[in-house]
Amino acid sequence: MTTDARILTALRQAEEEGVTSGDLARAAGITEVQLRARIKELRALGYDIAATPHLGYHLLDSPDALHADDLIARLGATRVIGRDIQVFNETTSTNDVAEKLARDGVREGVVIFAESQTKGRGRMGRRWVSPQGKGLWFSVLVRPPLAPLAATQLTVIGATAIARAIREVTGLSPQIKWPNDILLDGKKVVGILTELSAEADQIKHVILGIGVDVNVTEFPAELRDTATSLALATGGELSRARLAAAILRELDRDYARICEGKFAAVAEEWEQQCVTLGRRVRIHIGERAVSGRAESLDTDGALIVRSDHGRLERIIGGDVVIEKG
Ligand code: BTN
Repeated sequence: MTTDARILTALRQAEEEGVTSGDLARAAGITEVQLRARIKELRALGYDIAATPHLGYHLLDSPDALHADDLIARLGATRVIGRDIQVFNETTSTNDVAEKLARDGVREGVVIFAESQTKGRGRMGRRWVSPQGKGLWFSVLVRPPLAPLAATQLTVIGATAIARAIREVTGLSPQIKWPNDILLDGKKVVGILTELSAEADQIKHVILGIGVDVNVTEFPAELRDTATSLALATGGELSRARLAAAILRELDRDYARICEGKFAAVAEEWEQQCVTLGRRVRIHIGERAVSGRAESLDTDGALIVRSDHGRLERIIGGDVVIEKG
């Protein structure tokens, strides 16, 4: 942990009681003189830190901007996901940055956030609108010990962990649409873009690109009927940093589960929140379309569909339209 992350951790732990300058400096591993300089820097970043003689320091408020040290402090120790966090003000796509790090051999668990993306991308070559400071636009690099066929497991744990974190932070009841969308009242609030690099029988790395419309209040005309945000659903702005830490904590937990071969436990939770299972669906896979009833999820996270011709089809990706009836 960096010095600033240690300071923010100690301030958050102290809550209303506050923490004396001596104790805070000790927790951060620096002198009180150095602490004063760090507090000045943190205030300049927008942290409202009060200093009261004898009582010490209190954290009164945090800025809405994302800071790596703050995210690390909020997250605490994790097994893999979020061991390293990097925040960019602007990138083309956080998946591009993560892909470069993956090729450079960076260890798994690094998370790249951007306040805005100039070329945010969604599935099927669509663009992903990523306005400055309004959402969580981030990518997680993992190197799971799985076969390429099991890559859908990553999307499933991503959706399950994010839905759980949203429930915890907002009290809302998100629904999951296979494979990668999270909906609120039928409108999309989260998208996941899973990009895979693999050899014949082993995944090299996976980048989970996650877009959460947190405080977005205006959508382009073509998305107005199908997209929503957490702020629109709750009627108020949310702390993006708090939600980001909750998501990474849950992702770390579920990632550990799939690495230990316990995908079935996550899949069960996923199924309880899924709006796709049991419904009539039409799935477009490139030029092909499959119509039928979505029956279950298999052990690799693929969707099993009973087609209108009575055949069981195993679907690992595609554009799903849930039909009436
Ligand atoms: C989809 O539903 O089509 C997937 C959208 C994924 C968007 C996220 S935002 C962070 C990461 N960077 C990107 O360019 N895309 C993903």
